[in-house]
Amino acid sequence: MNAQVKLVDPHAGLVSREVYVSDEIYQKERERVFGKAWLYIGHESQIREPGDFVLSRMGEESVIMTRARTGEVQVMLNSCRHRGMRVCRYDEGHTEKFYCPYHGWAYNLDGSLAHVTEYEREYKQNGFDFAQWGLIKAKVATLGGTVWATWDPNGNFDEYLGPARQLLDLSFVAWDGEGELEVIGSTQKWQIPSNWKIVAENFAGDMLHVVSHRSVDIVGIGPNKESGRRDASHSAQYVQAAYSEGHAAIVGLFDPKDPRRDYSASAITAEYFQDCYAKRKRVLGDQALISPAVGTIFPNMSFHGNQPRTVLVAHPVSVDKTEMWRQYFVDRNAPKEVKDFLRRYYLRYSGPAGLTEQDDMENWNYATNASKGFMARKFPYNYTAGLGNESTTNQLPGATVEVMGQGELHGRKLYGKWAEYMGEA
Ligand code: FES
Repeated sequence: MNAQVKLVDPHAGLVSREVYVSDEIYQKERERVFGKAWLYIGHESQIREPGDFVLSRMGEESVIMTRARTGEVQVMLNSCRHRGMRVCRYDEGHTEKFYCPYHGWAYNLDGSLAHVTEYEREYKQNGFDFAQWGLIKAKVATLGGTVWATWDPNGNFDEYLGPARQLLDLSFVAWDGEGELEVIGSTQKWQIPSNWKIVAENFAGDMLHVVSHRSVDIVGIGPNKESGRRDASHSAQYVQAAYSEGHAAIVGLFDPKDPRRDYSASAITAEYFQDCYAKRKRVLGDQALISPAVGTIFPNMSFHGNQPRTVLVAHPVSVDKTEMWRQYFVDRNAPKEVKDFLRRYYLRYSGPAGLTEQDDMENWNYATNASKGFMARKFPYNYTAGLGNESTTNQLPGATVEVMGQGELHGRKLYGKWAEYMGEA
């Protein structure tokens, strides 16, 4: 490691390449970041009934998200307390209990130990305390159906989000401003040869990289008949919003006269989105004019809150490998034609076959690889764009704001928080 370079200097806008390529740093991240931060686990629509479960991850580790008999959402380490075997090896499903195939311990939906082996009587005679040997449980919080968890017993989700909660409240609600969302299909999962932080920072508000999506913008993969990748939003002023908690996003601030919602693929879709937008304005008032386009909740949960509407979690696998998990959302009560229309749009935009995602992955993978060499590692990355241009807006209370196209405020805030977690601030 080059001892001359501070790992992160948010005031100068510099980040050492060691942050992306050093295995020593990566090993520390596993506990200091992923052992403490609030992490996105999934969405409640994936586990509607008691006994429904999906596997998720907290950092490198597998966890089970399930709904207990009480209706409560549980997040538990997927590792048997007896000798560590995975107690669940299916991505999703429904069960009465989680049975460990190794020696036969079984756990209830709330993680408590239900049975041990056929020698259970002997265990009991020996004073075995079942209550001490349940699955390891994480602390859980929910917001608009999204499920979050932390290993920190003192973790406070509201404090963790801070004022960035506004962005999630506006994103994880149906288009009409009050209905529910649901995940459509299963989670897409694939691996890329990239450090996880390059993914997280890209979605936190890197608008300078739009140049790499030029071909996608020209062909027009968006939801309406015009070119571009997203919905028609000509009057919006886009700003970069970043928070001292490490979260950041690109947010559209719309003109009240803008009709927006020009989803003219068919009469049904056009009518649905226009009706929703009219209701959204009645339900949310001025908040309906605020549209989070894309952002990252520190450390690794990224979301598109407008169109497309998705979540991407960049799960670390190793210092130079990331497992990408992407989910897509639709309004639960939308007509089937609207859901089908959105599903097709989402898949041509994001995921391993999505055109925009392919552009991004090419950049991240080459950048990680080209930063590994002994010479490359001596020189920091540059996040100086927009330094000194920060301001505020009363539409986004608590956010530091930069006018779009100029800033790398998102990177300075995100890595400033990362340095705090790592003890490098
Ligand atoms: Fe699970 Fe032994 S490892 S019962």
